[in-house]
Amino acid sequence: MSIHFDARQQTFHLSTERTSYVLQIVKDGYLSHRYWGKRIHRFSDTKPIVSIDRPLSPNPYPHRKDSEFSLDTLMLEYPGFGTSDFRTPAYRIQQENGSTTTDLRFDSYEIIPGKPGLPGLPATYVECEEEADTLRITLTDSVLDLRVILDYSVYDSLHAITRSVRFVNAGQQTLKLLHASSVSVDFDDADFDLLHLSGGWSNERNVLRRPLEKGIHSIDSKRGVSSPQHNPFVALMRKETGERFGEVYGFSLVYSGNFLASVEVDQYDATRVSLGLNPFDFMWTLEPGESFQTPEAVLVYSDQGLGGMSRTYHRLYRTRLCRGTYRDKERPILVNNWEATYFDFNEEKLERIAVQARQHGIELFVLDDGWFGKRDDDTSSLGDWDVNRKKLPGGLRQLGDRIARLGMQFGLWFEPEMVNEDSELYRNHPDWVIHVPDRPRSTGRYQLVLDYSRTDVCDAIIEKLTEVLQSAPIRYVKWDMNRHMTEVGSAGLPPERQRETAHRYILGLYRVLETLTSRFPDILFESCSSGGGRFDPGMLYYMPQTWASDNSDAISRLRIQYGTSLVYPISSIGAHVTAVPNHQVGRVTPLEMRGHVAMSGVFGYELDLSALTVAEQRQVEEQIRLYKQIRPLVQFGDFYRLLSPFEGNEAAWMFVDEERTEAFVCYFKILAQPNSGFRYLRLQGLDPRSTYLVEGLNQAAGGDEWMNVGIRVPVDMIYGDFRSCTWRLRKLE
Ligand code: DGJ
Repeated sequence: MSIHFDARQQTFHLSTERTSYVLQIVKDGYLSHRYWGKRIHRFSDTKPIVSIDRPLSPNPYPHRKDSEFSLDTLMLEYPGFGTSDFRTPAYRIQQENGSTTTDLRFDSYEIIPGKPGLPGLPATYVECEEEADTLRITLTDSVLDLRVILDYSVYDSLHAITRSVRFVNAGQQTLKLLHASSVSVDFDDADFDLLHLSGGWSNERNVLRRPLEKGIHSIDSKRGVSSPQHNPFVALMRKETGERFGEVYGFSLVYSGNFLASVEVDQYDATRVSLGLNPFDFMWTLEPGESFQTPEAVLVYSDQGLGGMSRTYHRLYRTRLCRGTYRDKERPILVNNWEATYFDFNEEKLERIAVQARQHGIELFVLDDGWFGKRDDDTSSLGDWDVNRKKLPGGLRQLGDRIARLGMQFGLWFEPEMVNEDSELYRNHPDWVIHVPDRPRSTGRYQLVLDYSRTDVCDAIIEKLTEVLQSAPIRYVKWDMNRHMTEVGSAGLPPERQRETAHRYILGLYRVLETLTSRFPDILFESCSSGGGRFDPGMLYYMPQTWASDNSDAISRLRIQYGTSLVYPISSIGAHVTAVPNHQVGRVTPLEMRGHVAMSGVFGYELDLSALTVAEQRQVEEQIRLYKQIRPLVQFGDFYRLLSPFEGNEAAWMFVDEERTEAFVCYFKILAQPNSGFRYLRLQGLDPRSTYLVEGLNQAAGGDEWMNVGIRVPVDMIYGDFRSCTWRLRKLE
């Protein structure tokens, strides 16, 4: 049992094999946070709560005479606002009298074997009850008859703790939920750096690290999607923590819409982290009897640096967040026609690409944007999901059958959350988009966002996509989403519920995805949002892989894929070899390096293969042959980052299978440095007592030697820009 209640101390001790998390019911039923960190055998409270009279920190009722008791200085588990704590609250509720003061006290608890699902929301799951236990604590506000139910699920051997919250209005008044975090954690010091993954289009998930200072540090999205600007993830790291050593606390939100991560350092240098739905422009009406469920937050503590944290997230998300046929299945190597043809294609052109791809050993042909309506550019037809017979006279079935006859799978692009003004769908249903009455509608890429907060809109999309997916042998879908929300409002909601639109949209999206992915369990779904603009755990629940970025330049990708790997498993990172000069940044990199970078993810090609020289085509065949051999290792092995492209001119990483019998190492050098020294890479993750042969080098040595002495990067890597090399290691004994 990973949850222990000590009735004498009134503590709940949650423990995984490596982590402990302790909370305590203290004076008057307040729920205090006591510890989170490396696993301790038993919590006997060596650091009892100290309270002294702190000026300007008031004393909540009934402690009028106890000037030492204030919520302002107590570490709290799910803090409110209005009764003496002035730090960032975890939630806020407006009542009929206009007040937002609340006061939650412990009411009851239960321990549930396993982990209950979150209705309508993505969440990590268990396959049997033994994998996790759940602590459910009910807090109540007696004035409002409000119940706030905190769920903590503890994955013993996956080393993670998840949290989510349900608000139940058991009273008589209508409540307005203004803020509802999924998690709040207090630390009693601020000796941390904050790490987050931020950037923008084609520059996603840069690893940014900065010291905490007094005040509030926040990252968020108000765009209607989790966004490429900020990923719904933050970590607190001890100053000395690096990739391999040191303590780090990760917070990841299983959600695809507006979020807020906030880190506050208070006057006493205590830190509060909260993560959840963005309270900005959010208000949810809770009528008597109604409840509201927050998304799930996943907490990972590691004392083995960022690498340890990432491997925990990878394993949990790969095996207990992703679902479906493809969860544990090797992903096909694909060719996508987008950068090869853009909108300018016909059946012959596509078939030529497919024939050549097949000859090289590619397994899946993906037809990207432009196959429907009258779409010859991006100004029209989103919403009209009927095949363009001018381009494809035989329809999707004929093309799909031809691809299948070549021995390849056939995949198709959609952007089902969008509509162009120039489309039949919009002409027929102008109120089906996110909009505000009497105001003009902003466009982005000439398109509007369909109102997925409406059930009828979602149902219509489900039916249309079902029809298309049944019309041809489609085995893969690329689900794109290329603009963010403006004039956020819905014709389906009354005025007092307009600020529910953005969250209802995400709930609608999740329902559509749940329906389609269960209706078509054998289709591999890949999510995309102008590249990696919605690369979040919420989407991974429905689609096990994501196109990581529209930027496919190998050098840019070093950073994008490195940053993505902080949280997301390699099996979720779509990566393609594209043409040079690169279409996004104009850089010319060798095919070898483009291959090595793309092979470090879910591999594919996105270029006109016939434009390659014969020698390059042989190289492509070689890359495909190699990837097929290392695919299980890359997609399902443990990932170790060796050199960070954010810290220098190089990058390196490696993959090791679970049994530590095989490894694949990649080294990348960006620019040539004059008269530079030699580089030795100290490997990781091998069995120190086993002997490994490095193929090619034909040298065998102990795992301990490869890890502590290292492997020398070939001397000729000194010369030239954009160089890369790889090694394969095999365990001999
Ligand atoms: C944006 C995606 O990220 C691209 O890969 C491509 O599918 C285009 N949309 C098509 O419009």
